[in-house]
Amino acid sequence: MEPRILKLLLLLLNPHSRHSQVTASLPALPFPNKALPTKSGYLPVTTTSKTSSSIFYAFYEAENPILPLPNTPILIWLQGGPGCSSLYGNFLELGPWLLKQDPKHPKSFLLESNPTAWNRIFGVLFLDNPIGSGFSTASVSEIPTDHISVAKHLYIAITRFVDSDQHQTSSFRSRPVYIAGESYAGKYVPAIGHYILKKNARVSDERRRINLAGIAIGNGLTDPLTQVGTHASNAYFSGLVNDRQRKELERLQADVARLVAAGKWREATRARYKVIDSLYAMTGLATLYDFTRRGTYRMIGAVTEFLNDETVKRALGADETAAFRGCNEEVKAALEGDTMKSVKYAVEELVRKSRVLLYQGMFDLWDGVVSTEAWVRTVEWEGTARFLEAERKVWRDGKGELAGYVQRWGNLSNVVVYGAGHLVPVDQPVNSQAMIEDWVLGRGLFEDVKEEVDSEDLNLSLFD
Ligand SMILES: *[C@@H]1O[C@H](CO)[C@@H](O)[C@H](O)[C@H]1NC(C)=O
Ligand SMILES: *[C@@H]1O[C@H](CO)[C@@H](O)[C@H](O)[C@H]1NC(C)=O
Repeated sequence: MEPRILKLLLLLLNPHSRHSQVTASLPALPFPNKALPTKSGYLPVTTTSKTSSSIFYAFYEAENPILPLPNTPILIWLQGGPGCSSLYGNFLELGPWLLKQDPKHPKSFLLESNPTAWNRIFGVLFLDNPIGSGFSTASVSEIPTDHISVAKHLYIAITRFVDSDQHQTSSFRSRPVYIAGESYAGKYVPAIGHYILKKNARVSDERRRINLAGIAIGNGLTDPLTQVGTHASNAYFSGLVNDRQRKELERLQADVARLVAAGKWREATRARYKVIDSLYAMTGLATLYDFTRRGTYRMIGAVTEFLNDETVKRALGADETAAFRGCNEEVKAALEGDTMKSVKYAVEELVRKSRVLLYQGMFDLWDGVVSTEAWVRTVEWEGTARFLEAERKVWRDGKGELAGYVQRWGNLSNVVVYGAGHLVPVDQPVNSQAMIEDWVLGRGLFEDVKEEVDSEDLNLSLFD
């Protein structure tokens, strides 16, 4: 549906749309006019005439761009799961309006404008990926069973999106594209980044290339086997299990490795969940996403309910007849044979040809700091040794309080976010916004210090 028609419709439906806080109790939730995406709807990715699959998207233009629009970056956000909707990211984590519990009426919810949104100075595009997830539609035979098929669909969708405004002055085509995601998107993000590089290399007309500038992975699963191998020691040194339990976890981890070596990928995926289940049983934690939390991340249920409201579906231009599921089990099952497969090779290519940001909330026991460093050590890239030797700088926020640590060399940056678990933008909204903006713009701790490195090099080579 055209945004203008939508707006009109919503103005008629929703007389309260001028307030920045709109109270509502589910299920009759109005959608404030201001909270509407700049553009949203479906991007068809169908490959044959007999199938019909589309990726649902919601795009929010930069609120206060600091660059001319044709140079203003577009950030693409992909949720994990596998099979979870990126609208969680939109309404729970980093979108311009977040769903909040009404402090005055605990059973009611309101959409609140989010000053720490990631679309403050960049455009942000949420894609429900893979097809079948969120509001995306899928012909069952087209649901991807591996990360390369996921990348192919994303490529079609992104191409359609950047071509969707070619007659307008803001031309999406020219704008730098950054692809970001969290958790299981640690597989999708490198996969689509790599696929874009491959496609770009075959497109001779530069204007027809996707202007990929970088990728960002938050608490990601990227090199699963290496990462699964870190749970036992991570939990042990965090004081969450004793030595006997640690050995038991190590045995379970070895089972995963054995199954991977035998090429039994589905069984290996299930064996990985056994490690996770055992961690839950041993630690008694409310969530492995953040070992400091006494409860799970709240609001996930509320966002699901919100997105099932017909008014909301209509406002977003989503299929009103579709039941919204936050995480799609069929999509997850389809990827079972691919879950344990590594996409480290894709990161190795991307770090040579674009920029890579890895960031982890420090309290995460799924895909946290130790888990990430374990695979980063093994990245085959000429800069790896220098990266590992690079100073890990203390990062402080505007008030001088500890925000985390930043380590970088060349195109690779790794950020540890203090006081955060798996969903970094939920736990540290202000700092996560500063991180993504500074990284994209190469400011602050992400500023280049090339000269220093070079003169040191020179000295080293003189003495070699
Ligand atoms: C970093 O990426 C740029 C392209 O953005 C590339 O020219 C350069 O060689 C890369 N650096 C390293 C050390 O891989
Ligand atoms: C390189 O060596 C020169 C001469 O010994 C010295 O003045 C300079 O500080 C050294 N640079 C670095 C970065 O170590």
